Amino acid sequence: MVANAKSMGTQAARPRRPELPWWRKLWKEWAGRLGLTLAAAAIIIGYMGRDSRRLFAEQGLGYALGIVGSLLILTLLLYPLRKRYKILKILGNVRNWFQVHMILGVVGPLAVLYHANFSLGSVNSTAALVSMLLVAGSGLIGRFLYAKIHHGLYGRKKSLQELLSGVKLSTAETGGAAQFVPDLMKMVAEFDRQVLKPPKNIWHCMILPLRLMFQTRAGYRRIVRAVRQQLDAQAVASPVVAQHRDRLLKATARFVREHLRRVRQVAAFVAYDRLFALWHKVHLPFFYLLLLTAIVHVIAVHAYSI
Ligand code: HEM
Repeated sequence: MVANAKSMGTQAARPRRPELPWWRKLWKEWAGRLGLTLAAAAIIIGYMGRDSRRLFAEQGLGYALGIVGSLLILTLLLYPLRKRYKILKILGNVRNWFQVHMILGVVGPLAVLYHANFSLGSVNSTAALVSMLLVAGSGLIGRFLYAKIHHGLYGRKKSLQELLSGVKLSTAETGGAAQFVPDLMKMVAEFDRQVLKPPKNIWHCMILPLRLMFQTRAGYRRIVRAVRQQLDAQAVASPVVAQHRDRLLKATARFVREHLRRVRQVAAFVAYDRLFALWHKVHLPFFYLLLLTAIVHVIAVHAYSI
């Protein structure tokens, strides 16, 4: 049973951070979504107006946008460099660079899209554009996975240990129901055993969040139904149970819901962690491909005008 795992030592209490003012909370919550919505609007407007706009990649504003976009993309590399090399500490906080990385990772490719006027050109420019879109798209997926295994987008990484400590099974949390429903802990432990089976492969990791959603709902219904039946059976023989039947059922349902939610969180964490590790392996080659195709593109257009 998970609850008895030795590894579930309690974490040392961390000092609490001061509460943020409401507007900072609102900004933290919505800034990313607002940015992505604006970027999506810029893409739609840019794509729809591509035939009516007089923007040329080889001259004027179109050319300038190509340079600006490329410089922004080069600048966003300061994040992985700052993260990797301690010597770059003078550049400031890694967190801030991560934020800059994500903003430039959207704005830079947008500038390049306008530079290309949302059209495919020669083979070399198409290759550079597609590679850039692959890296930026993969970056968005990475952001999603990153947030799932960290405390917020800019917080520290969660640990399995820490999450497991939250799923410790204790009869005290059942509001006394465990005493009258002898099977309760067994049923919950069985659910834990099923749900916490490590995913066999990456495909299992991908479908796990969806599977967990169904498994948790079905598990909750099954356990609460069984608890209700057992309490009703006990109530016939015991006036005490009959008197407290509703309270016991409510407390058990609350306990089961909360426990299953935490177990689901642990199982999802394992899957997201593996997916993120795989994502890193894919994102980096996409980036190297972008580097190569961008260099070929710049040489080709300047040396051979193709
Ligand atoms: C052309 C655009 C982009 C380029 C060239 C790029 C490049 C990179 C590189 C080289 C890394 C380091 C990979 C590694 O250490 O294994 C990285 C990490 C990352 N990028 Fe991007 N990226 C781009 C866009 C984006 C976007 C748009 C987002 C999200 C909004 C994003 C989110 C991330 C995340 C979450 C990481 C992992 C951070 C970590 O593990 O510390 N990237 N990116």
